Amino acid sequence: MDSRENTKDIRILAIESSCDETAAAVVENGRRVLSNVVVSQIDEHKLYGGVVPEIASRRHVEAITAVVNKSLSDADMKLSELDALAVTYAPGLIGALLVGVNFAKGLSYASKLPLVPVHHLRSHIAANYITNAQLEPPFLCLVVSGGHSHIVAVEDYTKMKIIGKTRDDAAGEVFDKVARTIGMPYPGGVNLDKKAELGNDAAYPMPHPRVADAPYDFSFSGLKTAALNIIHNTQQRGEEINAEDLSASYRKAVVGCLTENFLKAARDLGYKKLVIAGGVSANTLLRRELERECGERGYELYMPELKYCGDNGAMVGAQAYYEFLEGNIADLSLNAAATRSIEIG
Ligand code: KG4
Ligand code: ZN
Repeated sequence: MDSRENTKDIRILAIESSCDETAAAVVENGRRVLSNVVVSQIDEHKLYGGVVPEIASRRHVEAITAVVNKSLSDADMKLSELDALAVTYAPGLIGALLVGVNFAKGLSYASKLPLVPVHHLRSHIAANYITNAQLEPPFLCLVVSGGHSHIVAVEDYTKMKIIGKTRDDAAGEVFDKVARTIGMPYPGGVNLDKKAELGNDAAYPMPHPRVADAPYDFSFSGLKTAALNIIHNTQQRGEEINAEDLSASYRKAVVGCLTENFLKAARDLGYKKLVIAGGVSANTLLRRELERECGERGYELYMPELKYCGDNGAMVGAQAYYEFLEGNIADLSLNAAATRSIEIG
């Protein structure tokens, strides 16, 4: 367990609204989840093939009071029994983030509880502290979500350095785009992953893009275009694409880029403790390949439980505990930000 743990238990109510999930949780000492409520808007965004920001903001406004109340009642806790509030304030959809931030500021003002601002990607990493009670920094983390693909050196709970990142699209984004083109509903990543389990990964040869002179950076847009060209050319010939084979071939290519750079960074920088985080860390092949590769190399590998891979409030509460111990408290001038580096926090 964390050596800096206080003798007094610290309980934090955490709110997350950065994209299309309205979520709240109560977490004790950054590791023990007392409640975790997630209301997903996926069914509505499915109609449009992706997240519609204006709709996301409106649904957050409608859901947030009930979600926060339920997180308190599930934890059997009153506001007066908490030590702090926390909220995701960056990065994400600005209108969606503002709903959580303004709600949390109002609650902080009314309850006099301190408010901890949490960076969304830092909270994805912290999902691992919930699942793996013995995990402590330093470690190397592959953070892969709908909007980001980073290799991050987590030197301490609140001290991080970006080692590599995507030069264009994020891994989740390109999974979703190709899945949509072969007719899978939003969010396509998980559906493509399931289909890929049934396909032949050698059926459609894919390129293996590398970024010149930047061995830890990724570039997925060319890979995405290659897959889309295969799909369109097949359709133009009047032939049917084999969705299972295409999914398997494409997934293998994306996961190959992720694992290659991640393992190279670990070897070059001397990390033997590896962690994955973010929505794409639920990917079956990514988990399987890293388990195998890390097993062969004698590395420790930590992965979040599947229910903590996607956006949720528990991970925000986990990171908030460490930000709180660092004295990272916001005042009522706190604003949301669509973009912000994980290094700044
Ligand atoms: O972290 P997340 O829930 O939201 C963001 O912060 O972006 O990540 C969502 C992304 C989506 O692109 C979704 O398709 C992808 O994670 N994803 C997956 C899988 N499950 C979710 N991608 C590949 N394989 C999966 N099993
Ligand atoms: Zn996320």
